[in-house]
Amino acid sequence: MPKSIPSRFFYDAKGSDLFEQITGLEEYYPTNAEIALLRDHAAEIAALVGPHVSLVEFGSGSSRKTDRLIEALPALASYVPIDISDAALAGAVSRLRSRFPWLRVMPLHGDFNAPLELPRSARPQKKLGFFPGSTIGNFTRDEARDFLKSSRSLLGPSAAFVVGVDLKKDLDLLLPAYNDRLGVTAAFNLNLLARVNRELGGTFDPSLFAHDAIYNETDGRIEMHLRSLAAQEVQVLDDVFAFAEGETIHTENSHKYTVAEFQALARSAGWEAREVWTGDAGLFSLHYLTPGS
Ligand code: TRP
Repeated sequence: MPKSIPSRFFYDAKGSDLFEQITGLEEYYPTNAEIALLRDHAAEIAALVGPHVSLVEFGSGSSRKTDRLIEALPALASYVPIDISDAALAGAVSRLRSRFPWLRVMPLHGDFNAPLELPRSARPQKKLGFFPGSTIGNFTRDEARDFLKSSRSLLGPSAAFVVGVDLKKDLDLLLPAYNDRLGVTAAFNLNLLARVNRELGGTFDPSLFAHDAIYNETDGRIEMHLRSLAAQEVQVLDDVFAFAEGETIHTENSHKYTVAEFQALARSAGWEAREVWTGDAGLFSLHYLTPGS
């Protein structure tokens, strides 16, 4: 059996911090591309969705991108950031409360893959879902469809959903985004092993593993792996894991779409693709979806 660790385990306090550093890297184009799209189209989004919505963000992290939407949305009723990292969520909430003192911020700590309940006071309003960062690409296509279906029922029949999706592109641009010169992505990947050691008394020697990022053409995705540099055994709790030299732990997928592929996926999950923005460089796409009839 190929070994793997679900990618949500990346995001302890240290991992969330390293991920924030990734978003600032020169090679990691998605963050800047998406921020530019939000800057250029926030007013249009606000006009499409209308006033008094409650903004619900999945995997909000630092919530840094959300400022553009918060500023543009007229009479925004509340903001519900959802994140698996307590530390990232707490940091974002205190920043937002001082930057937007009028805004009602209602954080939800948890895993957005599990069934969720929105805070009661956010329930009456129309919802604007926000799922940036191409986090949807970290799902397989089937998982992404399931997530889009369940978010459709969570957000309700009058909702809209803004989803950021990374686009298929030349490998010369794609690969360095997941294998940067400074080694921050490698440190982020290897932090998983350190986390197993910290929290589960694991005996991983991180220096005996290397960070790999490859493009899987068949599945249209970047895959991240941790590759064992030697034949070795590692203990975690009561289990012993044997690694052959070169064997990997699969730690992440980042699926890439064309605009048409993502729109077809959204439709198959009951959403209608109303608008899409890609900017001049066509590096990244921002989709505006509404529930299909
Ligand atoms: N949603 C991001 C992406 O797929 C997450 C990400 C970026 C990531 N760089 C990473 C996840 C490196 C793991 C490792 O682009």
